[in-house]
Amino acid sequence: MSKVRIGIIGSRFQADCIAHSVKMMPDEMEVVAVASPSPGNAERFAKQHGVARAYSDYREMLRDPAVELVSITAPNRLHAQITIDAAAAGKHVVCEKPLCVTLEEADAMIAACKAAGVLLLYAEELFFAPKYVKAKQMADEGAFGRVHLVKQGEKHSGPHSDWFWDVDQSGGGALMDLGCHGIAFCWWFLGKPNVRSVYAQLSTRVHRGRTEGDDEAITIIEFEGGATGVVENSWNRPGGMDDSIEVFGDKGQTYADMLMGNALPTYSEVGFGYAVEKAASTKGWTYPVFEEHWNYGFPQEMRHFARCVRGKETPISDGETGRVVQEVLYAAYASAGLGQKITFPFHPKGIAKPIDLWKKPELARAALR
Ligand SMILES: NC(=O)c1ccc[n+]([C@@H]2O[C@H](COP(=O)([O-])OP(=O)(O)OC[C@H]3O[C@@H](n4cnc5c(N)ncnc54)[C@H](O)[C@@H]3O)[C@@H](O)[C@H]2O)c1
Repeated sequence: MSKVRIGIIGSRFQADCIAHSVKMMPDEMEVVAVASPSPGNAERFAKQHGVARAYSDYREMLRDPAVELVSITAPNRLHAQITIDAAAAGKHVVCEKPLCVTLEEADAMIAACKAAGVLLLYAEELFFAPKYVKAKQMADEGAFGRVHLVKQGEKHSGPHSDWFWDVDQSGGGALMDLGCHGIAFCWWFLGKPNVRSVYAQLSTRVHRGRTEGDDEAITIIEFEGGATGVVENSWNRPGGMDDSIEVFGDKGQTYADMLMGNALPTYSEVGFGYAVEKAASTKGWTYPVFEEHWNYGFPQEMRHFARCVRGKETPISDGETGRVVQEVLYAAYASAGLGQKITFPFHPKGIAKPIDLWKKPELARAALR
C-alpha cells in the first residue's frame, strides 16, 4: 500500500500527538505538510517532526497536491469550516473531537464530504485503545453476559490552552471537551444502539473565575435495548490525566484504568522529565506512563484511517459518529438546564453552541415543544 500523505492543520498539543502517532506506522502513512497561523509555528513544527512543507494558511496547504488527507487539530469552532474547505479541495478529513460546535455544522460537514466523495473520519481514539478494545472483545464474546451498564470517565486539572475555557470558541466546558469521548465510548461499546434519553448534572465548582463552562459533569445515557451509559468528567482533578472504564453484565464485569493501570508506581525525591499528561509534578509518588500514545490508541486510529483512504478498511468512526455525540451533548446541556431527562429525538435548531442549552433553559424548553 502506498503511504497516505497527510497534512496536519494546527501545530500544538494534538498536532504533536498525531505527528508522533503517524511516525509509529511508517509503512502506512507520512506527514508531508503542516499549516498553522501563528508566525513561526508551522516552521518550528515542520523542523521538529521532519515535515517537508510548512504553511501559515491552511487554505494554501489545501492547494498542495501532495496532501491527500488532512488532520484537523485546530480549535473546535474551526472544525466545520476547515472540513468544508478541505472537502471542496478533494482532501479526505480526519477531524479531532468534538466533531464541531453545532448540529447544523455537523450536517454541513457530512454533506460536504459526501458531495465531494471524500471520507470524513472522526478521531475517537478510545475505539482503538488496546485495553478498551480487549474489554469490548470480551463483552462481545459474552464474558459478562448481558451488559447493562458501561461507565467511562475522563478527568484532569483543566485544559492547557485558553480557547478551551472560552465557551464561544469551545462550545462548552468539561462535558464538551472530555464527555465527547465517554459518550462515543459507551455507544460504541454497546454496539452503537439508538439513544433513548439523556440526563446530566453540570456545575462550575472550581474555575468560576476562568470560565463560564462546566468543570464537573455527570451524564447518564439510556440506550435502546435497556443498557445505561454513565460518563463522568472533570477539570478539577489534579495529579495527571485519569481515564478509565467499568463494564457490568449479569455474568461478570471488568475494570480498566488506561493510564495509572499502565504506569510504573514511582517515588522520586528529585523528580524527572515527564510522568503523564497534565501532571503538575514528578516529585514524590507519581504514575509515569510508558507508550502513552499507543495506550490511547492514536497510532492504531491513524493506521485505520489511512487504510480506509486506501479502501482496505471501512471506517468505524465517521462524521455520523461525531453527529451522534453532538446530539447527546445537546441533550445533556439541555437536561442540566431544565433539570429533567431529555428523551430522543431531540433536535433543537439554531443554537449557537451546546452550552447555551444549559445557560438559557428557555432555548431547551422551546425545543421540547
Ligand atoms: N483526541 C484527543 O484526545 C484530543 C486531545 C487534545 C485535543 N483534541 C482536540 O484537538 C483540537 C486541538 O486541540 P489542541 O489541544 O491541540 O489545542 P492547542 O491549543 O494546543 O492547539 C491548537 C492549534 O490550532 C492552531 N490554529 C488556531 N487557529 C487556526 C487556524 N485558523 N488554522 C490552522 N490552525 C489554527 C493553533 O495555532 C494551534 O497550533 C481540539 O478540537 C481538541 O478538542 C483532541
